Amino acid sequence: MRPEWHSVEDMDVRPFWLAGRPATGDGELTVTNSLDGRAVGVYSVPTPAQVEEAVAAAHAVRQEAAALPIHVRAEALSHVARRLAERSEEIARLITGENGKPILWARAEVGRGVATFRFAAEEARRFSGSTQRLDTEPAATGRLAYVTRVPRGPVLAITPFNFPLNLVAHKVAPALAVGAPVIVKPAPATPLSSLVLGEILAETELPAGMFSVLPVPNDRAAGLVEDPRLPVVSFTGSGPVGFAIMDRVPRKHVTLELGGNAAAIVLADADLEWAASRVALFSNYQAGQSCIAVQRVIVERSVREEFVERLLKAVEGLVTGDPADEATQVGPLVSVAAAERVEAWIGEAVAAGGRLLAGGTRDGAVVAPTVLADVPADALVVREEVFGPVMVIQEVDGMDEAFALVNNSAYGLQAGVFTRSLDVAFRANRELETGGVIIGDVPSYRADQMPYGGVKESGVGREGVRSAMEDMTYEKVMVLTGLTL
Ligand code: SIN
Repeated sequence: MRPEWHSVEDMDVRPFWLAGRPATGDGELTVTNSLDGRAVGVYSVPTPAQVEEAVAAAHAVRQEAAALPIHVRAEALSHVARRLAERSEEIARLITGENGKPILWARAEVGRGVATFRFAAEEARRFSGSTQRLDTEPAATGRLAYVTRVPRGPVLAITPFNFPLNLVAHKVAPALAVGAPVIVKPAPATPLSSLVLGEILAETELPAGMFSVLPVPNDRAAGLVEDPRLPVVSFTGSGPVGFAIMDRVPRKHVTLELGGNAAAIVLADADLEWAASRVALFSNYQAGQSCIAVQRVIVERSVREEFVERLLKAVEGLVTGDPADEATQVGPLVSVAAAERVEAWIGEAVAAGGRLLAGGTRDGAVVAPTVLADVPADALVVREEVFGPVMVIQEVDGMDEAFALVNNSAYGLQAGVFTRSLDVAFRANRELETGGVIIGDVPSYRADQMPYGGVKESGVGREGVRSAMEDMTYEKVMVLTGLTL
């Protein structure tokens, strides 16, 4: 069933969330669907004075937030998980509308969002301090250290368009779990899901000021980044923007989840049918707009022909089309401009001698699933992050060459290795310069509770609920003196 689209005049303007309450500002912006340009929502834009009010409220509430009993934080997080689950179909349709993501993947994203908040509720209950006896030395007789993690302070969460709910959840849920106020600045193309999240957060008992969702345009976000009352900046998005933030505020705690040109290695001992089906799907899921979508397919020469034959069959079998259709696996990119850029990169690769084995065409915001071979190593589709449904086949003589190729990249987020050998698995884990190594599957595998993040140009710091909670806090020690231990 297609979502109902309305004309802009019929649409209620969605408020933003200012210190826990709904508010409207001095302007309105319309969110459109990239497939056909139809309006899917209208939202209100905060004024500079309202942004200041939200920051002041986050700063003012920081100590109360840090002192909130665990059960209050955990109950608020559980409430969000429950309500996301109750409203899952509505939110999935909103994601499909604003992002162009097929409903199949939008539903999966909401399911992950539910899990992210549920994990945060569970981790909040486990996030206890520890004690250390210090009487290991005579001079410290009678002393005990009590070690806890305390919030670094209010978090500015700058979130991307490709997972408009779950990558917001990955910043909001851990912040609330550790007792840190959070201000979300969602991607201008896809703010609607985060505004619904604000609506659900407003149903909780969290104190005013503990969360705001401020859909300010990118060119008005610099003040938030620089504001000393927001000592933590958690950014997911492009490398140039992320590193510019870090350079701008070198004294803040900045976490960057950036891009990659993720590789899947297919070795001769792999289950080729499984590998082909996974690579085909996860190069093209969300039209390739995931930082860990398969981009480079590094296959051992002895199985190349058989693997590529299976891969092309799997790519051909992908259902492309309207993201609102239940069967669609590959939909449009987030905008026509994004699709035009991907098309240009494909063109550059072909002009440089690359061979198109599949796809290569564009219709509006839709790029056909594309498979390239014989592409020079310096082409953009090899070297940079495509963020589109494009994969490049590269042939190698064995594991050593495959690992060297993966590491010959400015990026290092996750890599996948299709092998049945445990030895190879451990070698891959030792030698691949990435934040994660997925054995027996694509690099696109992510479980929301596990540590997630990159090395090199792929980022700084880790997300994943527990890891983000650690990242947003520092260790504090209190020493007790004169005890009889
Ligand atoms: C990302 O694009 O970095 C997020 C991938 C995911 O959460 O699956």
